[in-house]
Amino acid sequence: GAPQTRTPTGAETGAPTIANGQQGAYLTTANGARLRDTDHSLKAGPRGPVLLQDHHLREKITHFDHERIPERVVHARGAGAHGVFTAYGTAEAVTRAGFLKKGRETDVFVRFSTVLGSRGSADTVRDTRGFATKFYTDEGTFDLVGNNIPVFFIQDAIKFPDIIHAGKPHPDREIPQAQSAHDTFWDFVSLHTEAQHHTIWNMSDRGIPRSYRTMEGFGVHTFRLVNEAGETVLAKFHWKPKLGVHSLTWEEAQLIGGIDPDFHRRDLYDAIEAGAYPEWELGIQVFPDTPEETFAGIDLLDPTKIVPEELAEVQPIGRLVLNRTPTNFFAETEQVAFHLGHLPPGIDVTNDPLLQGRLFSYVDTQLTRLGGPNFTQIPINRPHAAVNDMLRDGFHQHAVHAGVAPYRPNSLDGGNPFPAGDAEHAFVDVPVTVAQAPKVRANPASFDDHYSQVRLFWLSMSPVEKEHIIRAYTFELGKCYHQAIKERQLRSLANIDPVLCEQVATGLGLPAPQPTVPLPDVTPSPALSQVGREWPSD
Ligand code: HEM
Repeated sequence: GAPQTRTPTGAETGAPTIANGQQGAYLTTANGARLRDTDHSLKAGPRGPVLLQDHHLREKITHFDHERIPERVVHARGAGAHGVFTAYGTAEAVTRAGFLKKGRETDVFVRFSTVLGSRGSADTVRDTRGFATKFYTDEGTFDLVGNNIPVFFIQDAIKFPDIIHAGKPHPDREIPQAQSAHDTFWDFVSLHTEAQHHTIWNMSDRGIPRSYRTMEGFGVHTFRLVNEAGETVLAKFHWKPKLGVHSLTWEEAQLIGGIDPDFHRRDLYDAIEAGAYPEWELGIQVFPDTPEETFAGIDLLDPTKIVPEELAEVQPIGRLVLNRTPTNFFAETEQVAFHLGHLPPGIDVTNDPLLQGRLFSYVDTQLTRLGGPNFTQIPINRPHAAVNDMLRDGFHQHAVHAGVAPYRPNSLDGGNPFPAGDAEHAFVDVPVTVAQAPKVRANPASFDDHYSQVRLFWLSMSPVEKEHIIRAYTFELGKCYHQAIKERQLRSLANIDPVLCEQVATGLGLPAPQPTVPLPDVTPSPALSQVGREWPSD
């Protein structure tokens, strides 16, 4: 009858505990047999040969041979930190999530990352940055798996393998590492014009953050929040750094990339160790949950669109402080596994087709990366809420489950797993009406506007930011070998802004093409500029 608790501690199972520092009175084999020597292999006489019989030699080398696991297929390069999230209570009206109730404190683990480079690549390259947060809430883990750029390259997850294949190093030369300066990247974004919005953010100073501590973070997708009364709103998540948003200049980024490829990782670690704890405010933009799922004419399910802050204020709902560095990079930063389906009651997903595909991809890749289905038992991934699931066995199973087989109802073992009060505490999927429409492989027509918000971003920049954007496009496109790709990207720039197009074309020594669509009439959003803005509101 006792509930199955996941991953009993060593004390519970009677197993010995591995000392954190692997320090002790004497050295043993992995089986606990005391050793006398770990510096010499067992040989037939001092001049050898080495004997196959030496099980300590074999164990030591075999384990070493298997120390590496696959790096993440994207976001391989990262750095993490522990912290605490404190809720202001300001979200209580729109979500029943317990960790957002006033004064609640929740442990978190955050992993920042670049997207395209390998595990050993440099920190200061021009790229998007990941900003993934694991909230260990007492109602289950909530993973907010965001980026430092509020839009994405594609509108449908089925295109994710394509954009990543195009952005990763060329398969023959394995270059370039972690930079957008190559043919296949520009081929993709000029052929898929929905990528132009994310791309201009990459070409802006946002693509080369000064520090993880000075980055905004965005949940990108629209989520659905549910309050105690079952009422829903649509919402977008924003992280605002206390230190403000700051970038490197391109020259700084390149120099630092050579002098200190670990610049961001070092900065995060050193700041926390020095007691200068990085802080962010979590905020939400809230929109009415209408059947159209639009706000101010913007399709909230289109992940290539933002809602300018001037149209929907970012309302602060809590504060994140990172105050502890990982003890072990592999155990924590490398093995942490985020997943958008980790949702507490009160936060639900929407039909954004990019979000829907992500719900599949993360666990799927982690099954390979972390070697089977039990990676939720790895300490960094263990929920802080009590776990009583019906999962059994599998590779790397650490729990010793007692009782008969887990099935429900079950008259031999176990009680009623759904006691009274569940409605109050359980995750309930919002019963959103599904459209009565034919199955199609198509996007809604509202996804077809690929230029308005790119122009909006461009027009919102200060003169110095515009100058940096022009130089970035010129530098990155200048690295392409194929002139046809440069020309096609210039045609996209013409649809964003003639000045931008002309300046980049001049830099590339090519003629500036004419726009192929009328220039969209848009109102700039001063909040998009990094210049002259106070962060956060207090
Ligand atoms: C990893 C963000 C779109 C697949 C990550 C990470 C972040 C992230 C921050 C790193 C997590 C970590 O630190 O461990 C985003 C954002 C997206 C997006 C903000 C768009 C809004 C997608 C899509 C797919 C995808 C569309 C697939 C269809 C993956 C995979 C990983 C990953 C496979 C590696 C996960 C792992 O190995 O643990 N993403 N991503 N992402 N993402 Fe995404």
